[in-house]
Amino acid sequence: MGSRGAFSSKMGFILAAAGSAVGLGNIWKFPFEVEAGGGAAFVLLYLIFCFVLCFPVMVTEIAIGRKTEKNAVGAFSSLGFKNWNFVGKIGILAGVVILSFYNVVAGWAFGYFIEMIQGNFEIGANFGGFVSDVGKVGLYGIIFMLVTAFIVSKGVAGGIERAAKILMPTLIIMILGLVVYSFTLPNAMIGVQYYLVPDFSEINLKVVGGALRQAFFSLSLGMGALITYGSYLSRKENIVSSAAYITIFDVGIAFIAGLMMFPLVAYNSGGDMSNIQGGAGLIFVTLPQVFQSLGPILGIVVGSFFFLLLSFAALTSTVSLLEVPVSYAVDEYDIRRNRAVV
Ligand code: ALA
Repeated sequence: MGSRGAFSSKMGFILAAAGSAVGLGNIWKFPFEVEAGGGAAFVLLYLIFCFVLCFPVMVTEIAIGRKTEKNAVGAFSSLGFKNWNFVGKIGILAGVVILSFYNVVAGWAFGYFIEMIQGNFEIGANFGGFVSDVGKVGLYGIIFMLVTAFIVSKGVAGGIERAAKILMPTLIIMILGLVVYSFTLPNAMIGVQYYLVPDFSEINLKVVGGALRQAFFSLSLGMGALITYGSYLSRKENIVSSAAYITIFDVGIAFIAGLMMFPLVAYNSGGDMSNIQGGAGLIFVTLPQVFQSLGPILGIVVGSFFFLLLSFAALTSTVSLLEVPVSYAVDEYDIRRNRAVV
């Protein structure tokens, strides 16, 4: 295991894997999926899928990685199931495809952080113009990818684990601070009610499918990440309890992100939840308006804080997505880590 790298402790593994799981899926995607899925009924389904269906899948992925000490493809050969290598290859392909759009949205988050610092609240109304500005969005995306590549090039303990140990606790403090603040705003409780009181008539096949998709995406399943991270976990550590912590961490952050988001949305809509802006723009269009209404100083502080939080969450996920093909290249083709990252 030594030459491939290893996590220095169970806590390091849990933070890195939770960092992979917690990301845009929790803070950007989860609230707009809740909105599209009709509110609390979606949240309930999502929680059931995470614990009943996804948790055992997570245990299995980590166990496959840990047992074989191999990347997502090599792990299947090592287990004696060479014909099943294609499952690992699909996982790697999924990771690479996800990374290709994920890094773009992460670049938006980072770009919004830069714009918020400058007090540019109009960016929300100009979301379409911002995302079509290839030069600007391209630059933010490249910066984000370079930071991701730098962390992965430093290896498992010195890069991935070290970054997670700094970013994850910071993220928790930031998100809790924002929840407390959002609860102080007018109409906050209307948003909380929308989020937490289920209307079961909203449940249909589309909502069930959406909740299932969200649970798998959010827990980083089927993308090779947890097989890869599991391969760096010491044999001493307990897989089931590690997976339980990671699941609780991920679900907890998604849940708290909703507690932060819906009071802000209700504040912005004047308490009318029937006609809120949904989709990808829920964060990027609506929130700058909320931050603007807080006044110039507070708006800049809260707004830049929020988009920095989103960038941190995204970074620990892009790191895990890049690590999947990197570990494959290092293990199977004997390519040096730095070269594989490039
Ligand atoms: N699991 C990662 C996320 O939720 C991909 O953002």
